[in-house]
Amino acid sequence: MAFQRVATVGDLVEGTAMKVDVGGEPICLVRRPDGEIRALHDTCSHQQWSLHDGWVGDNDIECSLHGSSFDLDTGQPTSLPAVKPVPVYDCKVAEGEILIDIDRQLNDAPVPRH
Ligand code: FES
Repeated sequence: MAFQRVATVGDLVEGTAMKVDVGGEPICLVRRPDGEIRALHDTCSHQQWSLHDGWVGDNDIECSLHGSSFDLDTGQPTSLPAVKPVPVYDCKVAEGEILIDIDRQLNDAPVPRH
């Protein structure tokens, strides 16, 4: 699967996240406070809560159910109770469009089955 358009930059305010569907996978699209875009699987590795409902930090997102935070570059949890990473995907911005390629996973986290 190649890069797919999933949203426009204007759809996502800095410091917020939204859920998009890419090839049947729920993806948490995050715009950091500095405007950079990141894409993670929208499934917390603790108890499968949707990450896009969480709070965005400088380079992490905090799960709104039990408070684990995940690094937006590595997918690794930076606080308990989660101990396993979430998949992180390649994404880019071109002419104001946000594109994701879910075949380009940037870490080796297992893809959640749902
Ligand atoms: S479901 Fe996310 S920290 Fe528990």
